[in-house]
Amino acid sequence: MSARIILGIESSCDETSAALVSIDGDQLRVLSCRTAGQDDLHAEYRGVVPEIASRAHLDRIIPVIRGACADGGITMKEITGVAAGHRPGLIGSLLVGTSTAKALAWSLDIPFVGVDHVMAHLIAGLLDQVALEWPAIGLVASGGHTSLFLMRSPMEAQLIGATIDDAAGEAFDKAASILELGYPGGAKLDALAETGDADAIALPMTRLNGGDFSFSGIKTALALAARDPQHAGKSADLAASFRKVVVAQIIRNLSLALDEHAAPSCLIGGGVAANSLLRREAAIACAERGVALRIAELRWCTDNAAMIAGAGALRIARGECDGWDLAAHPLSQIARGDRGARRRGS
Ligand code: KG4
Ligand code: ZN
Repeated sequence: MSARIILGIESSCDETSAALVSIDGDQLRVLSCRTAGQDDLHAEYRGVVPEIASRAHLDRIIPVIRGACADGGITMKEITGVAAGHRPGLIGSLLVGTSTAKALAWSLDIPFVGVDHVMAHLIAGLLDQVALEWPAIGLVASGGHTSLFLMRSPMEAQLIGATIDDAAGEAFDKAASILELGYPGGAKLDALAETGDADAIALPMTRLNGGDFSFSGIKTALALAARDPQHAGKSADLAASFRKVVVAQIIRNLSLALDEHAAPSCLIGGGVAANSLLRREAAIACAERGVALRIAELRWCTDNAAMIAGAGALRIARGECDGWDLAAHPLSQIARGDRGARRRGS
């Protein structure tokens, strides 16, 4: 059966999301996307509580799917394949989306595929876009990952760099917590940084060999600077200075990878791809090199099902299909989460 309209389901962390994407060749078009967030449920704990997250997914998943179908003007019978983010993430949360996707695909007698959430963040840059020239350098900067990939086609991603400690989004969230901006803090820190002087406070930038990243030293330097009485009342300057060094490290590694692999294209996704300075600096780095940049639209940066549907549509269009026994898994298959795991070759 040739798949044309794919339903995607995302439930890896604290967003319950369903989307419909149509595929024509490799062209992906988003028909609808509904997302129910849970920030209000987790704010008092300053982090996601897995048990609360999975119970909330259960309550929301069916209304969110019905909403996506209504918004797209698509009936269940018109859906030709179902994709779910089945890794990485919180296992109880992943199970809700994966089980729902399997049940729907089974009852409609259509293909089911599992999608790697990190891969989906890369595909987010291809939604509603014209075709790319390959290879591309891919960057995923999110709450759980900061990883660089060499991509020879939309679904082939080879890891060429990863964080050895915190992910960039995690560092932004911890920095926001140090500056008492609330949870989740990445976007709030970004907004505050726009009003500050990024050269006011010197914070050290970590430089590792290869494409790897490290953000824990910068975070500690911020914590120390924030405690220094001479920086009292200078939250905007601290936020701007922190954002500057985090983004500089990301852009440095991205630029080195673009040069080393002479890649004509660059794909960027993940929650931190919403960062306004990162977007500006990535545009400059790519323009200087004549590289075509596909950075995810703002609405497809943080977790959403449109990117899951897009990645699933590309797999289904290639005739791929997963079995009913496909398991949810806490780790990404393509990013593995840390360089230690990559070194051990697992
Ligand atoms: O991709 P995502 O929704 O979830 C994961 O897969 O982890 O990313 C969420 C992360 C959070 O750490 C959030 O603080 C960060 O993305 N984030 C930002 C911005 N918007 C979201 N970080 C920096 N600047 C932003 N504008
Ligand atoms: Zn994500």
